[in-house]
Amino acid sequence: MVKKLKLVSLITAALVTACSVAVAATTPAGSPFKVDHELFKLYPSLIVYEKSKAGFTEPETCGGCHEDKFKEWNGSLHSMAFVDPVYQGELNKAVKAVGHDISRQCEGCHSAAGVVTGEIKGPGLAGLSAVARAGVSCDICHSISALNHDRTPTKEPENGSFVIKPGEDAKDGSVLIKRGPAKPQDGCGDGFHECRQTEFHDKADLCASCHQVFHYEKHFPIEATYNEWKHSPYAQKGIHCQDCHMVATETFVKAADTMQKPERKDYRHYFNGANYLLYYLGSQAALKAGDKEQSGRLMAQYDMAVKRLQKAAELEIEPVYRKGALSEVRVRVKNMRAGHNLPTSLTNIRQMWLEVSARDDKGEVILSTGALGADGALGDDARLFNSDGMGTDMHFAVDPWVITAFSRHETIPPKGYRDVYYGIAAPKGSSRITFEARLRYRQADQKIAEALLKAVPKDIDLARDYGLSGIPSLPVVDMVSLKREVTATK
Ligand code: HEC
Ligand code: HEC
Ligand code: HEC
Ligand code: HEC
Ligand code: HEC
Repeated sequence: MVKKLKLVSLITAALVTACSVAVAATTPAGSPFKVDHELFKLYPSLIVYEKSKAGFTEPETCGGCHEDKFKEWNGSLHSMAFVDPVYQGELNKAVKAVGHDISRQCEGCHSAAGVVTGEIKGPGLAGLSAVARAGVSCDICHSISALNHDRTPTKEPENGSFVIKPGEDAKDGSVLIKRGPAKPQDGCGDGFHECRQTEFHDKADLCASCHQVFHYEKHFPIEATYNEWKHSPYAQKGIHCQDCHMVATETFVKAADTMQKPERKDYRHYFNGANYLLYYLGSQAALKAGDKEQSGRLMAQYDMAVKRLQKAAELEIEPVYRKGALSEVRVRVKNMRAGHNLPTSLTNIRQMWLEVSARDDKGEVILSTGALGADGALGDDARLFNSDGMGTDMHFAVDPWVITAFSRHETIPPKGYRDVYYGIAAPKGSSRITFEARLRYRQADQKIAEALLKAVPKDIDLARDYGLSGIPSLPVVDMVSLKREVTATK
């Protein structure tokens, strides 16, 4: 299957390149997506940079005074957002497919400081400053001074639509200004920076424009975590991204179950999500570099991500009888605690699926679906909850510069569920059937992960930096499982 896909996406990529040249020359009049290029100088990133003599500060420097926050952030994927080898592999492919301009879109979210200063020139890490490599660092979030939601082409947050301003010019040089949720106390910043309060640092609005990835030209929402959240019961009850992702596991569970906000003292800079694979890679790299403490922090986040996934969903198994005989089984998958669809973000890459089996009273398997093959491939019969992307002309596609629509989008809405029915007939003489269902998750299809890691730029050496001699089978997490015995007749 993957071979075919590659060819299709190559052809589509070639078509897209040809088209984009034409589009640039003649932006269609009355296009719904007019772009204000005066405002959005870094387009296709929608970041607006308010430049002054005040530069960006390395996270280690902030950590000199805010030690706990530094340690928490340093084990997060925000700290890996630019050096992430999976990201670098895809960026490399993007630039080769559609040209260098697209890299501003990617880097706007993965290393905003690197793109606004013009330092990053393309894929690769060689020669870059610590600030550029630090990805989504302290000085990105705390230098965001305003949001541009209402001025974007789609009038929605997308592709980094914020204003970034690390400081201002002053009589004798410059002054750093850091922004946060609290009203500044006297001495805030200890002479290193001034403090300003914003309306949005403790709200989803801060996260919105980076957690909405729209196609770089067509503005199709490929990842729409913020919009999913915005139209959910969580948004209506005031439970924001921070209330689940910037707290410990028990606190997030309580916020999701009771719709009560955590207390002020409970917030941590974990930004913990679901990508346990990247925490694992990061921790291997830290070990290789001889930093056991950092490796431990990343493994603690790995455990947290696995636990988060295991708290997200619940299952139900219900038999369906027709004319007194068992004819189907209904498996219900409920999104209990994800504040957005389950899964979210890269829904066309992530895999969440049901593995279901049934045995008769002799223990013989009479139904089996969704099991992984020996090569890590998922059978065609597996019921996946995710999406399929496509380019123009309904071509299947996985790359974000190609995807301008979804052919299928079957994620589970917040506090909602999806039902899957499996036809079944009890063998003659069987009186009881035992069903077993497992909801499973992994970051990507094995072949897709292999292709991405093979595309990493030359200055990342997976064996030297990550201790990877080949690409091992991607680990699968069992989010939840359930067993139920039912009678063959009713
Ligand atoms: C609007 C902000 C934004 C833009 C623009 C953006 N990304 Fe991302 N990217 C994200 C976020 C947020 C995630 C994390 C999603 C998740 O893990 O669920 C992510 C995740 C990824 C991942 C998965 C990383 C992993 O380790 O699994 C890859 C690969 C990636 N991005 C590549 C790109 C490329 C290439 C581009 C440009 C074509 C791009 N991104 C543009 C925000 C963005
Ligand atoms: C992804 C965005 C993001 C990044 C990156 C980030 N922060 Fe924060 N920070 C926040 C948010 C959101 C809050 C408010 C959370 C809360 O309510 O305490 C916050 C709060 C703070 C506060 C005020 C805490 C309080 O108790 O009032 C400090 C200080 C701070 N961050 C420092 C840092 C430092 C230092 C780093 C880097 C090591 C960092 N932040 C990285 C988003 C970020
Ligand atoms: C010389 C010490 C020092 C350094 C370096 C420092 N800060 Fe602070 N910062 C403080 C103090 C003191 C406060 C007030 C007490 C607190 O919140 O910890 C503060 C407060 C803050 C707040 C809370 C503002 C609010 O009103 O909610 C943020 C956000 C913040 N700092 C971010 C940063 C970032 C980002 C960096 C690095 C660019 C940084 N700080 C570097 C000392 C420092
Ligand atoms: C400047 C852009 C930016 C901002 C602002 C931002 N993020 Fe992110 N975030 C990213 C990128 C890029 C990644 C993916 C890094 C990677 O996987 O390479 C990410 C990853 C994450 C992840 C990990 C996802 C996973 O699959 O495990 C979580 C959770 C997260 N962000 C939450 C937040 C929250 C909560 C906020 C607001 C307080 C926020 N982010 C603000 C860009 C941003
Ligand atoms: C009620 C709690 C809750 C809220 C609110 C919430 N999340 Fe999540 N988030 C979760 C859970 C649980 C998961 C793990 C399951 C999953 O992947 O969806 C998750 C996963 C994620 C992931 C990783 C997705 C993946 O599979 O790679 C990202 C990125 C993310 N959230 C960002 C956000 C952002 C941005 C917001 C605010 C707009 C937000 N979340 C609001 C609970 C929450």
